[in-house]
Amino acid sequence: MSKITPYNSTESKKKQIGKMFNNIAKNYDLLNHTLSFGMDFYWRYKAIKCITNNPKNILDVATGTADFAISASKLKNVNITGIDISGGMIEVGKRKIKNKGLENIIQLQLGDSENLIFEDNTFDAITAGFGVRNFEDLNKGLSEMYRVLNKKGIVAILEPSKPKSFPLKQFYNLYFHHALPFFGKLISKDNSAYTYLPNSVEAFPNGKDFIKYLNKAGFKECKHIPLTIGIVDLYIAIKE
Ligand SMILES: C[S@@+](CC[C@H](N)C(=O)[O-])C[C@H]1O[C@@H](n2cnc3c(N)ncnc32)[C@H](O)[C@@H]1O
Repeated sequence: MSKITPYNSTESKKKQIGKMFNNIAKNYDLLNHTLSFGMDFYWRYKAIKCITNNPKNILDVATGTADFAISASKLKNVNITGIDISGGMIEVGKRKIKNKGLENIIQLQLGDSENLIFEDNTFDAITAGFGVRNFEDLNKGLSEMYRVLNKKGIVAILEPSKPKSFPLKQFYNLYFHHALPFFGKLISKDNSAYTYLPNSVEAFPNGKDFIKYLNKAGFKECKHIPLTIGIVDLYIAIKE
């Protein structure tokens, strides 16, 4: 897997990713909801529906502005911890959680998904929305998720994907590689973030290839569920 980074710099991918999300944090939600035509809420909703083991503790890795954590808070009697390497994203997330009165259910903290501070077998479920593609070391990040998950725990991962059939592929490429970077740059004022997005999706393993990574980390019963004509992939897997 080639290492696509946002900026042309010698800093580690993690440093660059943290910087990029700090830069776009204030505009992230607006851009995310607009550029996905609001479908990102539906994708997270579909993922949460697959968490069927009545979890008490959920970890949301790469939580960003906490939309996945907020979506998971609809589950009954649940406590959610969200972690992210970007202080800027967490700050926005904390504000949203406060405004929604969810402080008793969701706690956000700075943290690296590739070096989780939690004990083995701590969480009943783990969610990761549009985050694992940004990891410096995908194998390490998935192994860490496996380690802190309880037996019979469920992981739900969302990632952008690439439609494969004509003419959707051509239309989508036009949107994803041209329109999206143009509007992303205009609104976020970050020259690289919305070029990094399509480039990183292009280089990221999907479908069977991503499932190989899940298996390598130890996950079983791995399912790949394409959503919205294949523009997003949902992966569900369990720790046996
Ligand atoms: C595209 S945002 C997704 C935010 C949110 N999960 C959502 O569904 O909208 C990706 C997030 O992953 C975070 N991230 C990337 N690498 C990370 C790592 N190693 N540990 C924790 N967070 C990470 C970034 O800081 C960013 O906030």
